[in-house]
Amino acid sequence: MYTTKDEQHLYQQAKALLDNKNDDVSVITTLRGVINYADWKYYVQDEPVLADAEYDTLYKKLKHLEEEFPEQQTADSPTQRIAKGLSEKFPPVSHLVPMLSLDNTYNAEDLRDWDKRCHDYLDENTLIEYCVEPKYDGASISLVYDHDQLARGATRGDGIMGEEITTNIRQIRSIPLSAPFSSKGVEQTEIRGEVVIHKKTFTAFNEQRSAEGLAPLANPRNAASGTLRMLDPTEVRKRGLTAILYHISYYTLTSSHKRPKELATHYDSIQWLYQLGFPTPAKEMKVFTDINDVIAYCGEFEQRRDELPFEVDGLVIKVNSFDMQDRMGMTTHHPRWAVAYKFKARQATSRLLRVEFQVGRTGTITPVAKIDPVPIGGVTVTSVSLFNEDVIREKDLYIGDTILVERAGDVIPYIVKPLAELRTGKEEKIIFPAHCPACNEPLVKVPDEAALRCVNINCPAQVVERIMHFASKDAMDIRNLGGANILKFYELGLLNDIPGIYTINWEEIKKMDGFGAKSITNLQQAITNSKQQPLSRLIFGLGIRFVGETTAKTLAHAVAHISELYDWDTTRLATLEDIGPKVAASVVSFFQEKANRETINELEEQGVNLANHHRGGQATTGELTGKTFLFTGTMQQLKRSDAETMVEEKGGTILNGVSSKLHYLVVGEDAGSKLEKAKKLGTISIITEEEFLKMIGS
Ligand code: IVH
Repeated sequence: MYTTKDEQHLYQQAKALLDNKNDDVSVITTLRGVINYADWKYYVQDEPVLADAEYDTLYKKLKHLEEEFPEQQTADSPTQRIAKGLSEKFPPVSHLVPMLSLDNTYNAEDLRDWDKRCHDYLDENTLIEYCVEPKYDGASISLVYDHDQLARGATRGDGIMGEEITTNIRQIRSIPLSAPFSSKGVEQTEIRGEVVIHKKTFTAFNEQRSAEGLAPLANPRNAASGTLRMLDPTEVRKRGLTAILYHISYYTLTSSHKRPKELATHYDSIQWLYQLGFPTPAKEMKVFTDINDVIAYCGEFEQRRDELPFEVDGLVIKVNSFDMQDRMGMTTHHPRWAVAYKFKARQATSRLLRVEFQVGRTGTITPVAKIDPVPIGGVTVTSVSLFNEDVIREKDLYIGDTILVERAGDVIPYIVKPLAELRTGKEEKIIFPAHCPACNEPLVKVPDEAALRCVNINCPAQVVERIMHFASKDAMDIRNLGGANILKFYELGLLNDIPGIYTINWEEIKKMDGFGAKSITNLQQAITNSKQQPLSRLIFGLGIRFVGETTAKTLAHAVAHISELYDWDTTRLATLEDIGPKVAASVVSFFQEKANRETINELEEQGVNLANHHRGGQATTGELTGKTFLFTGTMQQLKRSDAETMVEEKGGTILNGVSSKLHYLVVGEDAGSKLEKAKKLGTISIITEEEFLKMIGS
């Protein structure tokens, strides 16, 4: 796509734009070119040329210019990947050419048979070139480009009709919104490919889902196809999908053009697409003329299948010449000129022996299936996570079931399904515990969440993590009581729960290596100081699920003493701004847990502040007394919670929502609905972070 010279030039243009403070509209085309180039380097080549902040600066510049000069905006501008609102539904569309499947082969013999069939079709003595490339395991898509512009993206559907998903396709940053097909006389073209998700992205995504109590997605393929059909394009964008285009299925040429040489063979067409900026298997392709070489390559590639960043389930072997492909044609199911060589399945059957329940660091109860040890793809699998109760019910699993287990590459093993037809009637239901296996306190189920949880903050399975959170900088800020010390004290039995922080046996600590008189005095001082922390920090430090710093402040402001919250029900909690049913239910179950109330009492006995002094009539007075503030969007210089503390220290009050009671809305980057609402009300002073800093004299 770009020559080295182009690349150098674009890079210099990017730097010049970054240095140039002048936002003259004349740079708009250059800006677009530079950003498209940076996207290509990042998403297709995996070699970023700009630092994130530099990229953001250029992107914002372009966005501002396009807002100011809307007539200069183009459909293929990088800013146009962002979709506002939800997709209504995905209308059916006919593919220009039916999207066929592939015939499968599993061994050398199958491949030799196919090679023979190819020679039978063409001519016994013809030399056939075979192109070999990975078979990507994702969701197949078709893209139509019309006069160089991406005109349509569709799913495979039934192969004849697919679903139109153009808006979602535009969220995939490796897919170009325009490409210079017309340079070779191509007017309209349909390109096939696969949408995939990197294994790393998939793992991170599932970890996040588990942390949120949501059922994880089974495998990268399901993640890719499910994401493509999501109604919210911004969510699609966040999931970090990518694409690989592997086939030109259709094209028309302008009357004055003959077929370009790029469209004579599959190999050249894929290299050409790559030149045009598309992600393709260009670098992974091999061409052979002898089927034995193809077979040898397949065996060799299978050995290193895990080295690719995404899942591959085989290789695809294609007759290279398009003329030969045309002569061979296709069946109703698959083209005769291509075949898939499928790798050995990484599935095996085993038996579900029992289910154990593990308590995670944050109290989530995870059922883990213990299975008859079974080797899959070189690893013996003995345990398989079942994630949560919903997964067990959906899969309809019983103890004693024969099960199909899959281990896809780096992805953790999972149970595909039970083989219900092999049941003997002796299988047993999986019973969930009512009490925590580690501390025996009752487990709770949060509405809308699949997971059961133990909410006892002193549960031994969670306590170290909980103490770390309590002492952390944004909570009680106990300097020097970091993770390593907490773990050491815990292992020696010197610190067993949160209140234990305030009754540490210092004589024992003095005997330990690495604790001099000075470090002990510092630690003692930090612990004593923490007793005076505001109530909001204490509430945040308790680690109530879904209660972050802002919600902790809301809760603290609503009461004069924490014990008032013991009796609040979900309805009352939901009257507070920004507290929805999920957060309310979590707060209620936390304070209902007897062990948690006892912990809070113990903290009070140790002299820890549990009162909200602002509410108790001793509010700080200062230059902001009587003034109300709300922060929205991303702040550049300040952390939001620090900014809020600054306001409170000067006597001001933080509100949780935009209403007529609000005096100042401080807006950061990408402020959304709150800003809109404030503008509509018209009575609120809308100020920037800088203006705020000036106002408070900082
Ligand atoms: S060629 C008419 N090439 O595998 C040509 N397909 O199991 C058809 N697939 O439906 C496809 N990687 O979704 C081709 N390099 C590759 C592929 C590939 C993955 C998918 C494709 C196809 C399915 C068949």
